[in-house]
Amino acid sequence: MPRVSLTVNGKAVTADVESRTLLVQFLRENLRLTGTHVGCDTSQCGCCVVHVDGRAVKSCTILVQQAEGADVKTIESLAVGDTLHPMQEAFRQNHGLQCGFCTPGMIMTAVDLVARKGHDLDDKTIREELEGNLCRCTGYHNIVKSIAAGAKAMAATTTAQAAE
Ligand code: FES
Ligand code: FES
Repeated sequence: MPRVSLTVNGKAVTADVESRTLLVQFLRENLRLTGTHVGCDTSQCGCCVVHVDGRAVKSCTILVQQAEGADVKTIESLAVGDTLHPMQEAFRQNHGLQCGFCTPGMIMTAVDLVARKGHDLDDKTIREELEGNLCRCTGYHNIVKSIAAGAKAMAATTTAQAAE
C-alpha cells in the first residue's frame, strides 16, 4: 500500500492507503473529520469542498495521493474553540442553512472566494462562484446574503487582528 504524508488542519499525518482512496474518504474514514460531506457521486454537489494549499477543491475529485505534501484544511479548522469563524457566524445569523448538509462545502467555498475576490462581494459574483455548490433546501437567497455578510465580517476581523 502506498504511504501518504500531508498536513491536515495544522497536524502532520502519515498513513498507508489503498491507491484508489479519495481525499474525502481519507478525511472522513481515516481521520474521522466528518464535517466534510459526500452528497453525490458525480462531482457536482460541492458538499465535499476543502482547501488544498489554500484553494477550494472538491475532495471527492482527487486521490489522497495527489495531496501528498499538501496543506489541507477542512471545515473543522475554522472555529477557534467555541468561537465560530466569521463566515460560519454569518451563516448562523442570516439563516444560510436549513438541514446543513451542504453548509461545510458552502462555507469552505465562500472563504476561498473572499481570499480570491475580496470582502466586498456582490450577489452576481457570489451566485456565479457558487455554481459548483448545490443546496436542496434554502433556495440560495440566504446563502448569498450570508456570504456577503461573512465576507465583510472577515474584513473586520482582519482589521481588528492587525490593530492588536
Ligand atoms: S461529494 Fe464531491 S461534489 Fe458531491
Ligand atoms: S441546507 Fe440543506 S442542502 Fe443546503
